[in-house]
Amino acid sequence: MNPTPPALPAELDTLLRRMRLPYLRKAAPDVLATARAQRWDPAEVLRVLLGEEVTGRDSATRRTRRKTANFPTGKTFSSWRAEDSSIPEATQNALSTLEWIGRAENLAVAGPSGTGKSHFVEALAHAAIEADLRVAWFTLESLTATIGKAKVDASIARTITKICRCELIVVDDIGMLPAGQDAAEAFYRVVDAAYERRSIAVTSNIHPSGFDTIMPKTLATATVDRLLHHAHLVLTKGDSHRLAEALAGKGVMPLS
Ligand SMILES: Nc1ncnc2c1ncn2[C@@H]1O[C@H](COP(=O)(O)OP(=O)(O)O)[C@@H](O)[C@H]1O
Ligand SMILES: [Mg+2]
Repeated sequence: MNPTPPALPAELDTLLRRMRLPYLRKAAPDVLATARAQRWDPAEVLRVLLGEEVTGRDSATRRTRRKTANFPTGKTFSSWRAEDSSIPEATQNALSTLEWIGRAENLAVAGPSGTGKSHFVEALAHAAIEADLRVAWFTLESLTATIGKAKVDASIARTITKICRCELIVVDDIGMLPAGQDAAEAFYRVVDAAYERRSIAVTSNIHPSGFDTIMPKTLATATVDRLLHHAHLVLTKGDSHRLAEALAGKGVMPLS
């Protein structure tokens, strides 16, 4: 690293502000000092400076997308223990390539509570953001509320269009609470709008073929039909990781 490089000439600084090139402007003093000292080709200087701007913008975009995705916990693959999951490692690996999102295929993860369904799907969703994709995270309740807020049909359509801008739409925890007509309708609308265009990932404590036991039958049947047509179905099993951690005394910080 250089000792503090000379500041940019005022006029250049003004131009860079006017052109809204914040990342280039920030990197410029260092880059120019290095370029001078190492006699870079002018084209190289331009390339490095514009590269800084592109990198800066891309990571700002990812930051914004991470925020608007509305993730529940922030859990990623860095805290995921692949070998402790009942999901076969080959399946985990295939899904984490995210190629299924490129093909607008769906993912349904079903199994008992505490078996890592939400953590796994959130890790995939974070990876999707890192891969420059957009994600929307919902529970069935938050999806119902989001669509319920849009009262008239035109604004419902707008809301759905906005949700379907995301390459991956997650609906977490279906079946934990009974779902009424509103929830079934909201879920149907999104699954129908995303059908063969966008990926939907759902987690549930019940198999999707049993969704008609927790929501109105006609809507459930139509929804599951579209959801499962191009879907990877992953079943988790075993005991709750939550309960195991609690019983091992790892659920809380010991009180002092
Ligand atoms: N394979 C795993 N590696 C790391 N943590 C796990 C794993 N499976 C489950 N957990 C942890 O166990 C808890 C319950 O997992 P969660 O994904 O919420 O379960 P589910 O959604 O199936 O009810 C969470 O704290 C989660 O981070
Ligand atoms: Mg869960």
